[in-house]
Amino acid sequence: MTSVRIREMTASDIAEVTAIENESFSTPWSEASFLSELGSTGSVCLVAIEDGSVIGYVCASCVLDEGHILNLAVRPDRRRMGVGRMLALSALKGLYSLGCRTVFLEVRESNTAAKRLYESIGFRVLGLRRDYYHRPREDAVVMVLRLR
Ligand SMILES: CC(C)(COP(=O)(O)OP(=O)(O)OC[C@H]1O[C@@H](n2cnc3c(N)ncnc32)[C@H](O)[C@@H]1OP(=O)(O)O)[C@@H](O)C(=O)NCCC(=O)NCCS
Repeated sequence: MTSVRIREMTASDIAEVTAIENESFSTPWSEASFLSELGSTGSVCLVAIEDGSVIGYVCASCVLDEGHILNLAVRPDRRRMGVGRMLALSALKGLYSLGCRTVFLEVRESNTAAKRLYESIGFRVLGLRRDYYHRPREDAVVMVLRLR
């Protein structure tokens, strides 16, 4: 892998971000959802850049001392190279600097790759939200990490 850097997402990244989003999720966020998230108070939206292209992104938000990872994906041909972990750790740093001390997320129960990634950086399972997802209908595993 050539060098990958993480930087803040800007509006001009959103076309590339949405292309990855569409390949990664059955109910993808629209360009408008990303734009709205970028403009929200307490948002941490980052992209991973390789050779001038977006190869992954993460969106998280912080309200008071609570953070939430909203969205994370890596371009299919760049997966399993550590980019997802880099993005998640960078988002946690951003959330911490905004004052978050506890971070939550939901993940499909069948999404082993994401669950392993989150566990590898310290997230623990808190419980299940029944039928949280649709297309296909599935429970969400709720995970939590206390930041220090
Ligand atoms: C989940 C996702 C973001 C992981 O990104 P990635 O760049 O491939 O992940 P990394 O290379 O940083 O992997 C970090 C760790 O996660 C785990 N992991 C990642 N992919 C995995 C897989 N396919 N199977 C099992 N474990 C996996 C491993 O523990 C890995 O560490 P290791 O390579 O040292 O064993 C990526 O698979 C993706 O975009 N999936 C589709 C979108 C998605 O499901 N997002 C999460 C929504 S909650």
